[in-house]
Amino acid sequence: SQDSSLREEVGARLRDIPDFPKPGIRFKDMTPVLADPRLLSRVVDAMAAPFQGQRISRVVGVEARGFLLGAPIALKLHAGLVPARKPGKLPWRTRTERYSLEYGEDALQVHEDAVGPGDRVLIVDDLLATGGTADAAARLVTQLGGEVVGFSFLISLDFLPGRERLGRDKVCALLSY
Ligand code: PRP
Repeated sequence: SQDSSLREEVGARLRDIPDFPKPGIRFKDMTPVLADPRLLSRVVDAMAAPFQGQRISRVVGVEARGFLLGAPIALKLHAGLVPARKPGKLPWRTRTERYSLEYGEDALQVHEDAVGPGDRVLIVDDLLATGGTADAAARLVTQLGGEVVGFSFLISLDFLPGRERLGRDKVCALLSY
């Protein structure tokens, strides 16, 4: 099918970087996919497709690679774009949700008026691992009165519990490992 050939091409173009950003982690570098205009366009179409016709009003792009995919997906879905940022980056009034990392914790923020009651929201990021980051983004949406319709990832690591944590039926990923 079209989708399996796309998955094969994207998989072949993701660059494996051993021991980045720290020893023992194998990083999937998506910059070769971003740099290829035809592949980028197909990836954006495929990540948006499951949510066409679902009346998405906002796309939340998660810092930092979620910004790059979230913006063109928002354009495809005729939705607004909301950056979910690491603390201290947004200039106006914010809401904050914390999440735990392997060691320690981090947090995401959005502007208070970025989402509101009646908004139907899609959360976009490059990678689903433990789901802690995307879950924090979802809590921000809910806290502001919006509805999380779903999540769209380029890659999902299915040996980790992220998909279950977010709700299997809400999660779409182009590639699974
Ligand atoms: C990566 C990735 C996701 C998150 C997924 O971000 O882009 O946002 O980890 O992990 P989780 O499902 O276990 O929460 P990273 O922390 O590398 O931040 P960056 O995108 O700003 O580099």
